Amino acid sequence: MSHRILFVCLGNICRSPSAEGVLRAKADGLGVRLEIDSAGTGDWHVGEPPYGSMQAAAKARGYDLSPLRARQVTAQDFYDFDLIIAMDESNLSNLSRIQPAGARATVALFTDYAAHTGADHVPDPYYTRDFDGCLDLVEHCADGLLAELG
Ligand code: 4NP
Repeated sequence: MSHRILFVCLGNICRSPSAEGVLRAKADGLGVRLEIDSAGTGDWHVGEPPYGSMQAAAKARGYDLSPLRARQVTAQDFYDFDLIIAMDESNLSNLSRIQPAGARATVALFTDYAAHTGADHVPDPYYTRDFDGCLDLVEHCADGLLAELG
């Protein structure tokens, strides 16, 4: 079972904190116990709360991202989590560079859990400015992940 889940994006202020907040809310609603965290491959925003526009869009759907603070992913995360879920191929490539040999975590792409959407990555709303589109996709992926976790 993959009960310790880490979401990873580039800055840890838009996509991965949204994934963390959405999955936590959905899991709580279903009574599923999961340990969930998020991190960025970059360190520019370490210590910062999620991006204001992202927080606002999430809050409008009932997800409170305000307590979250950005951190950078570490090699230790590959031991501390069962499943590390990236938002795009670039995140996967950055993760592969710090993945310790023999570490046990499974690494996956979030959109793999929502094949019906046809998406092969979660577009970065920091650049697209489509915060609601990001949340739509994140919600689909979180539903698919929960279904797979049983
Ligand atoms: P995220 O978006 O990876 O979804 O958190 C980004 C936010 C900020 C930056 C990059 C991506 N940045 O370079 O500042």
